[in-house]
Amino acid sequence: MKGYRLPKRLMLGAATAAAQIEGGDVNHNWRDWERKGRLHVKDSFTRAADHWNRWKEDIDIMAAMGIETYRFSVEWARIEPVAGVFSREAIEHYREEIRYMKELGIRPCLTLHHFTNPMWFERRGGFLYPRNAGAFLRFVGVCVQNFGDLVSDFVTINEPNVYAYMGYAGQDFPPGDNNLLSVQRVLEVMAGCHIRAYEKIHRMREAMGFYDTKVGFALHMRAFAPLSPMSRFESGSVNLSRWGFQDCVARAFLLGEFRLPLRNIGGFKRGVYCDFLGINYYTRNHVILPGNDLTRAQDPKNDYGWEIYPQGLLDVMQELYKICPKPIWILESGVCDENDDFRSLFIYDQLSVLSQTDLPVERYYYWSILDNFEWLDGESKRFGLVHVDYETGERTVKKSGQFYRELIENHGVTEDMALRYVSGEKYHQ
Ligand code: FCB
Repeated sequence: MKGYRLPKRLMLGAATAAAQIEGGDVNHNWRDWERKGRLHVKDSFTRAADHWNRWKEDIDIMAAMGIETYRFSVEWARIEPVAGVFSREAIEHYREEIRYMKELGIRPCLTLHHFTNPMWFERRGGFLYPRNAGAFLRFVGVCVQNFGDLVSDFVTINEPNVYAYMGYAGQDFPPGDNNLLSVQRVLEVMAGCHIRAYEKIHRMREAMGFYDTKVGFALHMRAFAPLSPMSRFESGSVNLSRWGFQDCVARAFLLGEFRLPLRNIGGFKRGVYCDFLGINYYTRNHVILPGNDLTRAQDPKNDYGWEIYPQGLLDVMQELYKICPKPIWILESGVCDENDDFRSLFIYDQLSVLSQTDLPVERYYYWSILDNFEWLDGESKRFGLVHVDYETGERTVKKSGQFYRELIENHGVTEDMALRYVSGEKYHQ
């Protein structure tokens, strides 16, 4: 097994999201979903990884691993528990955490919206109504005002396409509205929110005297392939899937270019509304018909049954770079692997793709630093480099976490590391 070096400019980090790690009884739409019995498990968001209380320990673990940059989100429902009322206590808590990570040399990358809405916003219809955009932008303003002196890297919205399709084209995610017209509307409203947030964050930070602001959003991208390589029909399905799930969303958010099925309901000008291309990449789907995504029996899979296909990252990076040639930040890439059987192999394969490309990749955030509350599947699905014992809260760095630590230290993989960590691992079929 070969070693490799990573490009000099690439920063290595890890990611989380507030609702998935913090715990506590917070009045957001996912806690509500849990109360309604809509999760696949009986676990509760109130426990999660208890990061709200253990944040210092978690940052210490990251620092010991050499994590260079940490992507996390702040919980809107904590900061604005009642419409227009902002919690000084929650803001101070996050400020303290951000200050601490910076002291330990970790660069913060702050996500403003990662799937959760405060219930007062959800009850108003969330992102389904253009009239609600103002509430989101006010929250963005409060975040920039309160964190803008400490943070220069912002992710406005995490995976609007997953949020819209899972919550509005099916009944899996809240609010479980099964209506394709709602998907279209939510994406249009969210694109407008992103564009206006992009401008607002830059404007506000400039007024504060900062000119190093980087703003983008996180697009969930999948690699798509026809089930039978020769089928023209299936190739057509692949193109439609790609367009409907990710490329039309990318054009609207990154460029203010709204093409069918999306309409420019806010009258936005064409422009460039990003400083980087944020990509969350996990898997590849084979397609016969659009929307009917398949995983082939013969391919390696993670515990979720998602195909492990590291080369697909190259496809999606190229796809997005063609739409908008900006630096690339991989904001999430990870694997669900309960026993840490093949996580080191996964990281080795995934980063080897980045060691070979000429594309300007600047960041890689492994999902996730910790085992955490995986939305519908709660504590049952483990993505972490660090094991969390949910009963005691105890953290233990996994073998893959040790591998990632050495990988960061060497800015690549040595042959000796590959031998010690990777050579004995195999993906599950
Ligand atoms: C992504 C989400 C993230 C996490 C991973 C596994 O779609 O952004 O919160 O749940 O999947």
